[in-house]
Amino acid sequence: MKVLLGVLGLFGILVLSSCKVSGPGKWETLAAKKAKKVTIGGKDWKNPVPDTPEAVKIGERHFQRHCQVCHGLDGHNTGVPFADRMSPPVADLGGQDIQAYTDGQLKWIIENGIRFTGMPGWDGVLKDDEMWYMVRFMRHLPTKGSLGPPAVFLDDNEHKEMEKALKIPAK
Ligand code: HEC
Repeated sequence: MKVLLGVLGLFGILVLSSCKVSGPGKWETLAAKKAKKVTIGGKDWKNPVPDTPEAVKIGERHFQRHCQVCHGLDGHNTGVPFADRMSPPVADLGGQDIQAYTDGQLKWIIENGIRFTGMPGWDGVLKDDEMWYMVRFMRHLPTKGSLGPPAVFLDDNEHKEMEKALKIPAK
């Protein structure tokens, strides 16, 4: 009996720990992706901001003020130590999936965020034109790594505080 309990106990530990490392299953991830496609609006919204180097610069300034803590200075998560530990991970904004969205969809995502993920909505925080400028920036992202890490992550304490606030699991 003792041996049986011991074996069961060990089995329990194995099951528990395998759940912990595996994260969301393939089907869950697929289902979440499908749900996301359906709910994202703004497909036909037109970007009222001109596509010029000046507009990209303005967008970059807004982006680096509000989004860099998760997306990095360059939009590719460079130097964001917990980017892979968010669930789902922080998206690389230069990725094909993201670039396939229309400008309107990108604006909608900024405004509303993505439900059940760490991507917050900015309705009421950012002005409409600020979001549209950011969309222009997202079409002209700097090369990955070219701007280095956000300054806040050079300070270990500040970065730990941030991970706590965002409830990021430890490494
Ligand atoms: C607290 C962290 C955090 C901040 C701040 C943040 N994001 Fe995100 N963002 C995320 C995460 C996590 C995802 C991945 C969501 C997903 O996979 O659906 C994401 C995804 C995105 C996407 C892609 C959506 C998709 O379908 O995958 C865009 C576009 C985006 N963010 C833009 C921005 C912009 C612009 C800002 C600043 C106004 C910003 N984000 C601020 C965490 C953040």
